[in-house]
Amino acid sequence: MKFITTDSYDKLSRMAADLIAAQVIIKPDCVLGLATGSSPLGTYANLAKKCADGDVDFSHVTSVNLDEYAGLDGTNDQSYRYFMDTNLFSKINICPEKTHVPNGCADDLASEGARYDELIASLGGIDLQLLGIGLDGHIGFNEPDEFFTKETHEVELDPSTIEANARFFASKDDVPTKAITMGMMSIMQAKKILLIANGANKKDILDKAFNGPITPMVPASILQLHSDVTVIYSEN
Ligand code: F6R
Repeated sequence: MKFITTDSYDKLSRMAADLIAAQVIIKPDCVLGLATGSSPLGTYANLAKKCADGDVDFSHVTSVNLDEYAGLDGTNDQSYRYFMDTNLFSKINICPEKTHVPNGCADDLASEGARYDELIASLGGIDLQLLGIGLDGHIGFNEPDEFFTKETHEVELDPSTIEANARFFASKDDVPTKAITMGMMSIMQAKKILLIANGANKKDILDKAFNGPITPMVPASILQLHSDVTVIYSEN
């Protein structure tokens, strides 16, 4: 595991974008696993700039996102599909039909999970998975639990996750309580993992995840078993 500490969110974002751009340059038809949340916003802005400058071509890239809120469709401005379209996909030359986000509005989220796992398998898996980390150690929406879940599945969001994500909604009551998330299998089978985290409040959970015991109560701790993980952290 490589743990890179930098002194600003701006530098973290540029480094993360450089690593993703390098992946696309080395393998133009790669599969990128993508995340939402506040952490990747700067990374996505840097990737958009690289694309506009003609330094990276996303036209052969396929993307698979980690998760989506249950019950929100892509027209809802709080959905992760909307987030991705707004913050990245509309700003780079990726083919819209090659961008995938789990369907949080599927009638049966279990079947949607199976469909999503088959899709990822049919693409040959993920070349580089970008992750953030929740204050409770979640990756994707894999919340602390008694076991790790392999497949893409429906989850009940942890109260601390609802609290943390309330900043994006009009009120805490508007935050969906359920979501669908990629499971640990697709994440752990990604050839490379890039986890980004910023803010002093992420320090403790990073320490638990990467220096503590591997336990489903700290979902990100499973990454200790992956052979190619890069973490970029900035306290500011
Ligand atoms: C979002 C996701 C989540 C976030 C995590 C950190 O797609 O998978 O695991 O990465 O909640 O969120 P931020 O970056 O907002 O602190």
